[in-house]
Amino acid sequence: MIRIAACGDLHIDQYSCYRFARHFPELATQADLLLLAGDLTQRGHPDEMKTLAKELKKLVIPVIAVLGNHDYHSKQVEQLTRILEDHGVIVLENSSTTIMLNGKSVGISGTKGFGGGFRGACGSQFGEDEMKRFMECSKQNALDFQASLANLDAEYKIALMHYSPIKETLEGEKKEIYPFLGCYYFAEAIDFARPTIVFHGHAHYGKEKGATPLGIPVRNVAQPVIKHAYNVYILS
Ligand SMILES: [Fe+2]
Ligand SMILES: [Fe+2]
Repeated sequence: MIRIAACGDLHIDQYSCYRFARHFPELATQADLLLLAGDLTQRGHPDEMKTLAKELKKLVIPVIAVLGNHDYHSKQVEQLTRILEDHGVIVLENSSTTIMLNGKSVGISGTKGFGGGFRGACGSQFGEDEMKRFMECSKQNALDFQASLANLDAEYKIALMHYSPIKETLEGEKKEIYPFLGCYYFAEAIDFARPTIVFHGHAHYGKEKGATPLGIPVRNVAQPVIKHAYNVYILS
């Protein structure tokens, strides 16, 4: 049995970290691993990430993260990644890691992901260069993620994202903004690689539970959705 604590969209600034960190003592007894699904900071500022990273370092369980669009806002992604890594957090971006938990191998592939929309209501690689670049960015990202997921060699395989791969977990959001909340390219990547479960954030007004077309469970763990600092999921 593997117990996974997951959450996203912490949006931590210099003053709000305590809201999250005060749950750490119980978290360490309830879970074997913490997954962070992006938007860890409010504006992608190094000081915000340092505040969070100092708290994460106190956790005795492994912490694995992807970044979100808010973390990209100040164009300091490399520095933010380094801050997390310096405090023991594994940061993934179209990359993966495998760890041993309770005698089982657990592989995690992570990506921020991107937008683009969902079948029947999406952008296309057609027309203006700007539109082509938008969709090509999403497509390439999904293909890289697919390769990373497919190469995992572990008993449990987890996909960790910020943007959503499906529209089901967006229900509650305005339909007009679905193309900015996720893209079906990533569901295709996930269904190709068949991980055990998928976690994402980003859709604050969405819902927690959904599945890809082939039935891979997808969980939107944005804190405003799960209404708690984190949720614990059991893989058995
Ligand atoms: Fe967010
Ligand atoms: Fe976001």
